[in-house]
Amino acid sequence: MKIFLDTANIEEIKEVKDLGILDGVTTNPSLIAKEKKDFKKTIGEICAVVNGPVSAEVIALDWEGMVKEGRELAEISDHVVVKIPFTKDGLKATSILSGEGINVNVTLIFSANQALLACKAGAAYISPFAGRLDDIGHDGIDVVSQCQNVVDIYDYDTEVIAASIRSTAHMLQCQDIAVDIATIPYKVIEQMMKHPLTDAGIKQFLADWENAVK
Ligand code: E4P
Repeated sequence: MKIFLDTANIEEIKEVKDLGILDGVTTNPSLIAKEKKDFKKTIGEICAVVNGPVSAEVIALDWEGMVKEGRELAEISDHVVVKIPFTKDGLKATSILSGEGINVNVTLIFSANQALLACKAGAAYISPFAGRLDDIGHDGIDVVSQCQNVVDIYDYDTEVIAASIRSTAHMLQCQDIAVDIATIPYKVIEQMMKHPLTDAGIKQFLADWENAVK
């Protein structure tokens, strides 16, 4: 499974990259706003650090605006993947941009039907949101799994990004369903690394070592 970091924070990105586990980055307008920095400059900085795809989302809601913004974002770096929300206009923009060789990540996907249409429009990536489905009482990872099935069964040249990942439990479920990619907040990466038995084991080894050499 590829691991993307779901953040626009350059320090977090550098730290996770140095661990040797970073395959890409996803941002969204909320994450960019949190950094209080220029959008395109921030994307450029992230692309300079990450050796992989970096999703940057359009703000326009009409297809003409999405295509215009998408082309501008794609100019920043070859690493840029233009993130487009799933709407009718979003599908049209995806079809145009992917026809021009620009990679598109269709975001805000909440059903396998949306996933199918995004694949057909030429999306390089689709992002079903697990956590936000859980929030309204649905089984988010089940929908991610259905989206992965669409891609696998029909052999689309699209990768599924499990998005809106909120917990280590989500990550275990992502491994169970063999999703292509999970995009994870920094906090969840930290939680994945921790285990009380690892800490206890290190403490015990060191105590035994100290006793033996005394
Ligand atoms: C994905 O690309 C989104 O940026 C992100 O996963 C949304 O997560 P949230 O629902 O926790 O805001």
